[in-house]
Amino acid sequence: MLKNPRSRSGPAAPVSRATAKRLVDLGACIDFLDRTGKLVRVRSEVDARHELAGIARRFEGGKCVLFEHVKRSAHPVLVGLLWNREIAGALFGVPWREVPFVIAAALGPWQKDKAALPARILRQAPANEVIEKTVDLSRLPIPVHALKDGGRYLDSSLVLARNPRTGGLNVSVHRMMVTAKDRLSFLIDPGRHLGEYVEAAEERGESLPVTINNGMGLAPWIVSTLPRLGDGKPAIAHHMIGRPVDLMQAQTGDVPAYADAQFVIEAEVLPGVREFEAPFADVTGYYTERDKRWVMKVNAITRREKPVFHTILSGQEVWNAVGFTAEAAIFHAVHAKIRQIKAVFLPPGGCGFYEAVVQVENTRAGIGQDVIRETFRAFRSLSRVIAVDTDVDIFNPVDVDWALTTRFNADTDLMLLPGEEGHILNPMVTLNPDGKGGTITKVGMDAMVPFEQKGEKFERVQFQEVDLKRYDIKYD
Ligand SMILES: Cc1cc2nc3c(=O)[nH]c(=O)nc-3n(C[C@H](O)[C@H](O)[C@H](O)COP(=O)(O)O)c2cc1C
Repeated sequence: MLKNPRSRSGPAAPVSRATAKRLVDLGACIDFLDRTGKLVRVRSEVDARHELAGIARRFEGGKCVLFEHVKRSAHPVLVGLLWNREIAGALFGVPWREVPFVIAAALGPWQKDKAALPARILRQAPANEVIEKTVDLSRLPIPVHALKDGGRYLDSSLVLARNPRTGGLNVSVHRMMVTAKDRLSFLIDPGRHLGEYVEAAEERGESLPVTINNGMGLAPWIVSTLPRLGDGKPAIAHHMIGRPVDLMQAQTGDVPAYADAQFVIEAEVLPGVREFEAPFADVTGYYTERDKRWVMKVNAITRREKPVFHTILSGQEVWNAVGFTAEAAIFHAVHAKIRQIKAVFLPPGGCGFYEAVVQVENTRAGIGQDVIRETFRAFRSLSRVIAVDTDVDIFNPVDVDWALTTRFNADTDLMLLPGEEGHILNPMVTLNPDGKGGTITKVGMDAMVPFEQKGEKFERVQFQEVDLKRYDIKYD
C-alpha cells in the first residue's frame, strides 16, 4: 500500500526553499538536474526541424536533455522534464510514487479558500528583462517534432486567460502551431475553460487577450493540466509550494503572465477567425487531422536575458504530464467519497489518459465496482478502469495482468458502460454529428478478490525477506 506523506484534507506540508524554487523556476530545475547528474547536454548545433526531436527520442525516459545550440536561434532548448517519473519526483522533493498525492493535497485547501495566498502582480520581473523590439516567432527555437507535423509547435506553454464574465484567471496547456511570425493556430478540446472564455468574448465581438508562458517550474506547469476546475485554478500552485507564485503585468493586454517564465508571448484570440492547424503528433501516438481551428495574433514577446526554451516530446513525457494530474484529480475526488481508495496510476499503455488502475482496500462486497464508477466520473477521458487489491503493485503491468488473470471473472466483474463521453482525440471514440465531443463504450474490470471468498485461497505466495549485502555472492 502506498503511503501518503501529507494530510489529505488539511493544508499541504511546507516544502523546502530549494524545492519551492524548483517548483516555480525552470532555471533552478536545470541547475538541480546538472548537479545531480540527471542532465545530458547536446553541444553540437542541431536543427529544430526534426533533428532535435529525433535526438531527444533516443533519450526518452532517461535523463533530461539540454540542446545548447539550435540553428537560427540564440536560445537553448530543454526537453524531458517529465518523461522520467523518478526525476520528476526528485524535482518535487518526494519519492516519485508520491507526486500525485502532493498535487492532490493542494486541491483541498484551494477549494476551501480560493482567495487565500493572493499572487503579487509585478511590473518588472525576470520574464520581462528583455522586451523584444519586433514580434517575430521565428527567432524562438520552436521545434517541428514528428515527421508529419504541420509546422513548428509550442507544445508545453501555459496559456493564462481571464473569464470575460467573471474576471477570474485560468491556466491550461494548448498546443499552438506557428503560421506566421506573429500568428498561431491552436486546438481547444470540448469542455475546456479557454473555449468557454473565447465563446463569451466572441459573443461580444471581442478578442480574448492571453499570455503564453514558456519555461516554468513544475508547480504552475502541473496545475495548468488539472482539468475542469476553472476560475482561480492557478492558485493551486501556491498551495503546492506554501506561498503565492508571482505574476507579472503584460505589456499589451489585461491579463497577467508568470513572473518567472523564460519567455512570455502576449497574444489575443481573434473572434470568429478559424485557420488550418495540424497534423500534430498527439497524446494517442497518432497524428491529429488538419482542420480549421482557433487563431491567435501575437502582440509582444518578452523574455529573460538568457532564457531556455521548454518543449515536450510526444510520448512518455506527455503521458506522465497528463497522468500525474489525472491521478491527483481522481484520487482527490474519489477519496472524498470512498476512503478505501489507496492509489491511482494511469499507465503509459493507456497513453496516461485513457486507462486507470486503482488500488482499493477490500472491505466490503462491491467496493471495486463502486470505485470504478467514481473513477470514471472523476476523469471523463478514461475508457478503461481496473480495480485491484492493496497487495497488487499498480505500477507493475505484470502484477496488474496477474490480478486480472486470477481475480477477475467476466460473468460478475465486467462492467460495460455504453454511450459514455469519450476524448475526441482517441481514434476509437465515435464523434457526434455536430463535431462537439464523442462517445465510447467504457470498460470497468474489477480484479479484486471477491469479498466473500477472501482467505487462504487468495493468499499470495511469499518468500523470506533477505539482505543480499550480507551474503558472499559472485555476480559474473
Ligand atoms: C502537453 C499537453 C498538451 C495539451 N494540449 C492541449 C490542447 O492542445 N488543447 C486542449 O484543449 N487541451 C490540451 N491539453 C489538456 C489541457 O491543458 C488540460 O486538460 C487543462 O487542464 C484544461 O484546463 P481547463 O479544464 O481549465 O480548461 C494538453 C495537456 C498537455 C499536458
